[in-house]
Amino acid sequence: MEALEAELRPYRNTHHTYTHLPERGRRRQEILAEMRELAGREEPKWRSGYASGSVYHGGADHIEFLNEVYAINSQSNPLHPELWPSAVKYEAEVVAMTASMLGGGEEGAQGVCGTISSGGTESILLAMRTYRDQARAERKITDPEMVVPVSAHAAFDKAAHYFDIRLVPVPLDSAFRADVEAAARLVSSNTVAVVASAPGFPHGVIDPVDELSELARRHGIGCHVDCCLGGFVLPWAERLGYAVPPFDFRLPGVTSMSADTHKFGYAAKGTSVVLYRTNLLRRFQYYRNATWMGGLYYSPTFAGSRSGALGAEAWAAMLAFGQEGYTAATKALLETAATIRAGIEGIPELEVLGDPLWVIAFGSDDIDVYAVMDQMNSRGWSLNGLQNPPAAHICVTLRHCQQGVAERFVADLEASVQVVRRLPGGRGVMAPIYGMAGATKTRATVEELLERYGDLQFKA
Ligand SMILES: Cc1ncc(COP(=O)(O)O)c(C=O)c1O
Repeated sequence: MEALEAELRPYRNTHHTYTHLPERGRRRQEILAEMRELAGREEPKWRSGYASGSVYHGGADHIEFLNEVYAINSQSNPLHPELWPSAVKYEAEVVAMTASMLGGGEEGAQGVCGTISSGGTESILLAMRTYRDQARAERKITDPEMVVPVSAHAAFDKAAHYFDIRLVPVPLDSAFRADVEAAARLVSSNTVAVVASAPGFPHGVIDPVDELSELARRHGIGCHVDCCLGGFVLPWAERLGYAVPPFDFRLPGVTSMSADTHKFGYAAKGTSVVLYRTNLLRRFQYYRNATWMGGLYYSPTFAGSRSGALGAEAWAAMLAFGQEGYTAATKALLETAATIRAGIEGIPELEVLGDPLWVIAFGSDDIDVYAVMDQMNSRGWSLNGLQNPPAAHICVTLRHCQQGVAERFVADLEASVQVVRRLPGGRGVMAPIYGMAGATKTRATVEELLERYGDLQFKA
C-alpha cells in the first residue's frame, strides 16, 4: 500500500495539499502555472510512447486543434437543445458517421442508430441495461442472464453487478477466441444477450462474431459486439487488405455495438458511441419522465447535464481525419504493431498469445512475465498486466509509430528478459498478488486491496 500511495501522491512533498477551500481565491496565472508544471512532468512518458494504450494520438497539432474546439464549445450542454442545437447536430452526426463505418448508414443495414456516451464502459453499461429492460418488457424475463466470453472487458461484469444480470462466462479456445460451442450450451431461456469483442482488451483477439451473432439470432436474442478498441481501426484495416473477419452490422445477428471515439477515433477523452440495429431497441435505453415536478424530462444516457464540447471534439476529430486520414493512421499503426509483434516473437522465452493485430499480449512458460513487466517499468514503460494465463500486453497507438519507438520497445524487452533470467527466484512483485486473485480462498483479500486503493485515490 505504501508503494501505491507513493504512486498516487508523488507531489505530496513538493506541492500544497488542499483539504479545504483557500480563504481567498488564488490568482489564475498562478493556478495555470502550477498545472502546467504538473502536466509537464507527466507528459514526457506518454508523449514519447512509453505507455500501452492511454493516449491514442497525442500529436501536438492535433491536441491544440481539439483544445480549440473545446474552448469554442465549453459552455454547451446537450440537455438544453434549445440553447445549443449545435451540440445536438455534432452528436447526431458522430453517431451517423460511426454507424455508416460499421455496416449501417445509407448503404448498409437500414435503421442503425445510437447515442453518444462518456466512454466505452458507459456504452457497454447502457447496452446491457437496454437488453435487460427489453427482455423484461417483451419476454417477461425476471432473472436475466448474459452470455459473455471471459476475455470481454470488465465493463460487462460491472453491468452485471449494477443491473442485477447474471453473467454466464464463456471459455476461450486455444486461440483465445470465444468458444462458440460452449456459448451455445450456455444460452438459456433467461439469456438476454450474447457478447463478442472485436477485438477484446486482453489479447487483442477478434471473437468469431459471425457464429456468435448467428447463435443469438437463432434464439431471437441480442448480440452486442464490443468494438471499443476496433471500431475506428477494423473498417480501415479491411480497406487496407488485412484479413478482418466479419464483425459489424453487416452480420444480421449483430444488434448493438460499442465504438470509442476517444480511443482510435482520436478525439479527446470522454466520448464513445453505442449503436443499435433498430430504434425500437434504442428506446429501451432512454430515460423519460412525464410526471416530474420539475417538468417533462428525458435523457438518453446515465448523465443529466453533459459537456457538449466533448461531442464537438469527436465530430471535429472525425472530420479532420476523414476516411483517408483514418486509413493512413491505421496503416502506420498496424505496420508498427507488426514490427513489435515480430520483435516479441524473436525472443525465445516469450510467446505471443493468439493472433493479434495491434494489441499484443505475451506470456512465458520459462520465466515470470510479471518480473519482465517490472523490468520494463524500471526502463520507463507502462504495460498492462493480464491474468489467467499470466501475461502482459502493449496496446499499440500512434505514439509508438514515432521514429525508433518500436525498436526501443523490443530492445528494452530483450534486456528485461535477460535480467529476469539471471534473477535469483526471478519473481515479479505482481506475481504473488495475481496468484492470490486466482485462488478462491484469497480472492477476497485482493478485492479488499482494490477497495483500499479506491479509498487512497480520494484521500487528499
Ligand atoms: C475492448 C474494450 N472494451 C471496453 C473498454 C472500456 O472503455 P473505457 O475505458 O473507455 O470505459 C475498453 C478499454 O480499454 C476496451 O479495450
